[in-house]
Amino acid sequence: MKSNILVLGGAGFIGSHTFVALIEQGYSAAIVDDFSNAEISAIQGIEKIIKKKVKLYKGDSKDAAFMARVFKAEKKIDGVIHFAAHKYVSESVKDPLKYYDNNLNSLIVLLRLMNEYGGERAHGRAPLLVYSSSCTVYGQPDKLPVTEETPLKEAECPYGNTKKICEEIMRDTVHSGSPLKVIALRYFNPVGAHESGAIGELPRGVPENLVPFVTQTAAGWRKSLTVFGNDYDTPDGSCVRDYIHVMDLADAHIAALEYLRKQKAPYYDVFNAGVGHGNSVMELIKTFEDVNGLKLNYSIGPRREGDIIKIYADVRKINTKLGWKAKRSLKDALRDAWRWQKTLGKKAC
Ligand code: UD1
Repeated sequence: MKSNILVLGGAGFIGSHTFVALIEQGYSAAIVDDFSNAEISAIQGIEKIIKKKVKLYKGDSKDAAFMARVFKAEKKIDGVIHFAAHKYVSESVKDPLKYYDNNLNSLIVLLRLMNEYGGERAHGRAPLLVYSSSCTVYGQPDKLPVTEETPLKEAECPYGNTKKICEEIMRDTVHSGSPLKVIALRYFNPVGAHESGAIGELPRGVPENLVPFVTQTAAGWRKSLTVFGNDYDTPDGSCVRDYIHVMDLADAHIAALEYLRKQKAPYYDVFNAGVGHGNSVMELIKTFEDVNGLKLNYSIGPRREGDIIKIYADVRKINTKLGWKAKRSLKDALRDAWRWQKTLGKKAC
């Protein structure tokens, strides 16, 4: 029988792409989402790709009663992938309680339910959990690339702190003897879209992240992109990140599930999920222009407060243990992101 996976936040950017990868690779899966930062059109996009109806539970994953109903309704849950978190740095600084409440409580509710129902619902097997963590836990590392052993720094913002605390919550829960098998994937910078153009990244309001701002500027939704600083100690002065195609990241979740399946419970570990090298903001803009044959309207602005100057992953652990490696390039990602943006049509600035 196919493994059944519950995808919390499955209508969001990374969640929707991972859901598609799960179905395409023979899993059965259901989505839980409250659409607080996703559009219902994401579900239609997924259905277009997988050519069948999505099993959807609409609701808030920190609502324990609702989640208990979801766990009861699913006949068996072999694993959960938890994407249902808020992720905006500046919003988290303005409204920390929103972030601590949502990001911590949704995980606590889930771990309790996995303890309670997991073993039984998963036919006695320890349920698997893959959790969306972030390279934000490293802060600005002293040495690059960052390995999983790189000491974690104090978080720069409440959002980053929720990721650190959530990792600790999972580690402590597993170490307490809970029959769980857990991997936290520390994402670097997920970009791009599904190759079909049917799903992609569509943040509510003005994007905080670079690539949606780039594509929305190219589409005329935004007047101009501001590059946050060009006087950093980097080759061209702009910040450097490890940009990973969202479909490669989706595959990393499946590799994590497959690996977890073979481990003995209790199990907890963390893995970097990146491509293993960095690109600057200016390189990304140039690549976007070249691969899509257009000119982007941008200007250089001041540095963004709290920005990490340079970070990229050491990916040897995920390559060797999970047998996963990013296959797609930044060019692929920026071509796919633009293809997706073009499907969205016109919108006023
Ligand atoms: C941030 C968080 C990360 C989080 C991610 C998802 C930190 C340090 N990073 O990533 O943990 O998972 O958001 O929301 O907390 N840039 C511009 N102009 C723009 C937008 C961005 O120049 O309009 C630059 C930034 O300065 C940065 C790069 O683009 O150098 C990437 O920025 P962004 O997409 O916001 O991601 P991060 O800051 O890396």
